[in-house]
Amino acid sequence: MAEHESLEFGKADFVLLDTVSTPEFMANLKLRFEKGRIYTYIGEVVVSVNPYRSMNIYGRDTIEQYKDRELYERPPHLFAIADAAYKAMKRRNKDNCIVISGESGAGKTEASKYIMQYIAAITNPGQRAEVERVKNMLLKSNCVLEAFGNAKTNRNDNSSRFGKYMDINFDFKGDPIGGHISNYLLEKSRVIVQQSGERSFHSFYQLVLGGPEQLLRSLHIQKDPAAYNYIKVGRQVKSSINDAADFKAVADAMKVIGFAPEEIQTVYKILATILHLGNMKFASDGDVTLIENGKLVSVLGELLSTKQENVEKALLYRTVSTGRDVIDKQHTEQEASYGRDALAKAIYERLFCWIVGRINDIIEVKNYDAKVHGKNTVIGVLDIYGFEIFQNNSFEQFCINYCNEKLQQLFIQLVLRQEQEEYQREGIPWKHIDYFNNQIIVDLVEQQHKGIFAILDEACMNVGKVTDEMFLQALNSKLAKHAHYSSRKLCPTDKSLEFDRDFRIRHYAGNVVYSVVSFIDKNKDTLFQDFKRLLYNSSNPVLKAMWPEGKLSITEVTKRPLTAATLFRNSMISLVENLSSKEPYYVRCIKPNDLKSPLLFEDERCRHQVEYLGLLENVRVRRAGFAYRQTYERFLQRYKMISQFTWPNHDLPTDREAVMRLVQGCGFEQDVAYGKTKVFIRTPRTLFTLEEQRAQMVQRIVIFLQKVWRGTIARLQYRRMRAALTIIRFYRRYKVKSYIREVARRFHNVLSMKDKGKHVKWPTPPKVLRKFEEALQGIYNRWRASHLIRTLPPEDLPQVRAKVAALETLKGHRADLGLQRAWEGNYLKRDKPEAVSSFTLVSSELQRKDKFMSVLFSCHVRKINRFNKAEDRAILITDRHLYKMDPLKQYKPMKSIPLYNVTGVSVSPGKDQLVVFHTKDSRDLIACLQGVVPPSESRVGELVGVLASHFKSEKRKLQVSTVSPIQCSMHGKKCTIVVETKINQSQPDFTKSRSGYILSVPGN
Ligand SMILES: Nc1ncnc2c1ncn2[C@@H]1O[C@H](COP(=O)(O)OP(=O)(O)O)[C@@H](O)[C@H]1O
Ligand SMILES: [Mg+2]
Repeated sequence: MAEHESLEFGKADFVLLDTVSTPEFMANLKLRFEKGRIYTYIGEVVVSVNPYRSMNIYGRDTIEQYKDRELYERPPHLFAIADAAYKAMKRRNKDNCIVISGESGAGKTEASKYIMQYIAAITNPGQRAEVERVKNMLLKSNCVLEAFGNAKTNRNDNSSRFGKYMDINFDFKGDPIGGHISNYLLEKSRVIVQQSGERSFHSFYQLVLGGPEQLLRSLHIQKDPAAYNYIKVGRQVKSSINDAADFKAVADAMKVIGFAPEEIQTVYKILATILHLGNMKFASDGDVTLIENGKLVSVLGELLSTKQENVEKALLYRTVSTGRDVIDKQHTEQEASYGRDALAKAIYERLFCWIVGRINDIIEVKNYDAKVHGKNTVIGVLDIYGFEIFQNNSFEQFCINYCNEKLQQLFIQLVLRQEQEEYQREGIPWKHIDYFNNQIIVDLVEQQHKGIFAILDEACMNVGKVTDEMFLQALNSKLAKHAHYSSRKLCPTDKSLEFDRDFRIRHYAGNVVYSVVSFIDKNKDTLFQDFKRLLYNSSNPVLKAMWPEGKLSITEVTKRPLTAATLFRNSMISLVENLSSKEPYYVRCIKPNDLKSPLLFEDERCRHQVEYLGLLENVRVRRAGFAYRQTYERFLQRYKMISQFTWPNHDLPTDREAVMRLVQGCGFEQDVAYGKTKVFIRTPRTLFTLEEQRAQMVQRIVIFLQKVWRGTIARLQYRRMRAALTIIRFYRRYKVKSYIREVARRFHNVLSMKDKGKHVKWPTPPKVLRKFEEALQGIYNRWRASHLIRTLPPEDLPQVRAKVAALETLKGHRADLGLQRAWEGNYLKRDKPEAVSSFTLVSSELQRKDKFMSVLFSCHVRKINRFNKAEDRAILITDRHLYKMDPLKQYKPMKSIPLYNVTGVSVSPGKDQLVVFHTKDSRDLIACLQGVVPPSESRVGELVGVLASHFKSEKRKLQVSTVSPIQCSMHGKKCTIVVETKINQSQPDFTKSRSGYILSVPGN
């Protein structure tokens, strides 16, 4: 039971129909066909509708889906049946068979191929070469068998014209180790004649259209089917068949299977022989019968490796034994033609049987020892012609339809028996139900003495001339009362039957009118002994081996060969015996229309097939008992979530009790029976309810599982995150530690280094330690500085302080600070040696008067006076005052500004020597320092450094700004001072501008 398909595709199992009626059955079948669901179950039977289009459902992935699954776990498919058969065989070590039935073109052969492919795909996981070889042979043999046994008919371009039963043998591990093919009733009449629109067997067209030039020449064959009477009817038939390509494929397959080159040659020679025979014409000249085209005789002699005159004799004469004498009796023209056709048919049939035999030789199980290898088991696949009703139905249709009656009988017996046996095994009471039993029709055909075959054989055995009409009369007299037999004689008003020609059988599958014409002939199936001897005496050993009975001399032949009907009946009986000893699986094929259309579902046509395949009865039988059965274990597995007693696990002593508890909980006791190992559910409704409840619970379970799983994922993620963080932490710690260790290593010896480690390169710190590095470098620098300072003489310290102060205030604002040179401070002394004495005088006078301790700075300057004129002056800065002096008047002090009045200084960022002293009373002093030796010596840095250092020592802050232009106040008025570089300027000079002053400095 397939439960995994949405209801939009209809019911996947007919057993689940609400009511079993033809309309409902057909509606479901049609719906599924239209939705592309070509397979549907009836319990374990697969109903298949030919899709007439290629379906993407046979690939590797589909195979994987069905492998090792139970039947109900996946949507219906051939693979599921194949897998079930295979598993049952492996589990129970029992032979089984898959019976594929349905009418011509319903898809039986395709189905058998897919089943074989599936079995080949899922076996031999160990890739044993021998098993691979066997599988390859089994698959390849199809190609050869189809070439010789299939033909295009009006119903099917690749119709099997023989019945095929193939056994596949498996070893104890379940790997295929060989096989055996049985063939049934090849439709050999097709060799000499076909209905319009049909062809002879593919092999002929393949040879004529696909054989290489050289081969055809050696066979005296033209590349034109129209040249050969036996096959020319079918020459224009259009189809998708590519004979030339198929010729190659078949030749290759024969080679791969292991046909020897001489054998393949002989196969072609036989095909050519048949084609030539068809063109052989006879004429009569008085009493003498002649061959018209004598040249053909020599061709035949060559192809059959025998003497030309022997061929001619066999075609024209018959050797008869009259007890003591043996005489040659000449054929009439008609007899000769009959003999020729019989020969053609017989050698083709013999060829076909020989091919099957050769394939069997090759694929049969070899070196198998049951003691060593365990029991070898078998899966049989039966692909046999389906029920046929033609315009004109002859002996072959009669046999084929009989075969289908037999198989239907088997189906009824087995399906019923199996069902009954299961109930017995499980200890469930079972009431017999009625179904149409076709045993009566089987008996009508095969019963000894009374059956149609017996009557036919009897007619054939009559001495003297027996005609088909006489056979019909015998039928009429012996079967007059039979409910399934009628003829015009018995039913004169029935115009559909012709007098003296037709009889009608009411088959289970429908009424069929048979024409008795040639029944006798076909049953006798006479082939003159002379031909057998001719072929046996061939010097071609392959050919000779096909005709062993030709060995007997004419006088030895006493026994009549068995008739075709008897042979067929016997083979059917043994086939059925064989099948019923196995566990059967059924594939019931339905042909949706006669046009090979993938879209058309002809209701009436399909209804008829459903009817005669007995599918509805099949459903009824299945449902009369229990629609559904399952082992307790599996049942629980599927439905345990419905009950609190069974979810997630039950604690009852057995699964059986758990199932009972579950069923009680649902209130289904009335509809359920408990077997020994299985639970049985009578109506599909109960099953649906279970399924519905399950579906509801499954949703919750899914959500529950999702919840748990999501939680698990989150926890996993969290744990991973934590781990990552720990790793990061350790890694960081490691980086920090190794940085510090590295710093320690590099700076370990700095104390003893000459430069106290100035040259040591700092390692790159990790990001977190950038700030730390700065601080550390600061500490280091201070440490190094303290060491440096310690080495300096004390008198240098003021200068160092001044330089530090200059750096602190001007670094980055002004380029040239003059740090490289010694800062002398009192430049007036140096710049003008001739004036030193007068300056010293003034200076000591001032020291006495103003009581200063030291001179901080002195220098010549150019400044602006109150008339906005530039004039040369000198400045002297002591620790208390800033003096302005006139160098021209022996440095007479002109003005003094107490340093506590000075608030700050401004300098420009350029190279000029402009300095503005800002005072509290807004009487700023604007000056440009002017050195003499060397003239370009920059003293601004020194002035600012000395002043700043002094201010600092007095705990005052000197405001230093480095800007351009400089803002200042002159006599309480705001003004700006701009510095301009001029090329023609020889020395700095001030001029007045609108907003203040311009200091022009020489440029270069
Ligand atoms: N499963 C299938 N998928 C596609 N086409 C199919 C299938 N079964 C049958 N056919 C088509 O129907 C044709 C007849 O099928 P075949 O098996 O030869 O019929 P049968 O053996 O019953 O006479 C095939 O040649 C193919 O074109
Ligand atoms: Mg077929």
